[in-house]
Amino acid sequence: MRDDIFSSKIDLVDFTFDAQVVDVFDDMVRRSVPGYQTMIEMIGLIVKTYGQNNTNYYDLGASTGAISLALGLNNNHQNNHIIAVDNSIDMVKKCKANLIDKITNFDVICVDINDICFENASIVVLNLTLQFIPVKQRQPLIDKIYEGLNPGGVLIISEKIHFDNEKKQVETTKLHLDFKRANGYSELEIAAKRQSIENVLITDNTQTHLDRFKTAGFSHSFCHFQCLNFASFLAVK
Ligand SMILES: C[S@@+](CC[C@H](N)C(=O)[O-])C[C@H]1O[C@@H](n2cnc3c(N)ncnc32)[C@H](O)[C@@H]1O
Repeated sequence: MRDDIFSSKIDLVDFTFDAQVVDVFDDMVRRSVPGYQTMIEMIGLIVKTYGQNNTNYYDLGASTGAISLALGLNNNHQNNHIIAVDNSIDMVKKCKANLIDKITNFDVICVDINDICFENASIVVLNLTLQFIPVKQRQPLIDKIYEGLNPGGVLIISEKIHFDNEKKQVETTKLHLDFKRANGYSELEIAAKRQSIENVLITDNTQTHLDRFKTAGFSHSFCHFQCLNFASFLAVK
């Protein structure tokens, strides 16, 4: 379904992943996030290289299940279990419906990702999710994920990022708005979404992400993909 949530909204409230957003989510994310399709394709490649037999794969903030699907369809290892997690019951229902006839060995659970125990993991994905977690809770969450990963396992994070260099920030922001315009969003929709999401989506810069991985104990990490102000990071235990 096409995303026209912000085409006529007057009373703006903070953005939530409710039933209205679930219906248009796939269209919204593709038209709003430059490089989204490549982020998913990279996760398909990464699972082939870093997945391990007899381990769990976690998809945190699974939404409608695109990442779980990429993990399941590209997996070339044996006896893996995919655990898709979201705290929006509407997303969880949609995710289950999307995955049920496409992949096996998965669970979709409705819980806060901060309340999970990670165990026997070789792949953990936070695709466009960490940015919605309160900043103070981010390092403890990455620490917990690190503890639950097996040696050689990986954490993949994709996020909207900001730049400390003002010119770079202004120019990438302009290009991102152009990307949305090119995908059919009006000026009103762009402005309304921005206002609705600005208290909810808090960005970090690249160095903050890399520093968090280091603090948690990851052996190495790097940005493996970037399109404008969206970046994907790979951290290896
Ligand atoms: C932008 S979407 C993620 C998109 C998805 N990973 C993908 O690549 O298609 C963010 C998701 O994180 C979920 N979320 C936000 N905070 C959460 C939390 N504390 N625990 C669990 N899920 C959370 C939201 O409900 C939403 O579905």
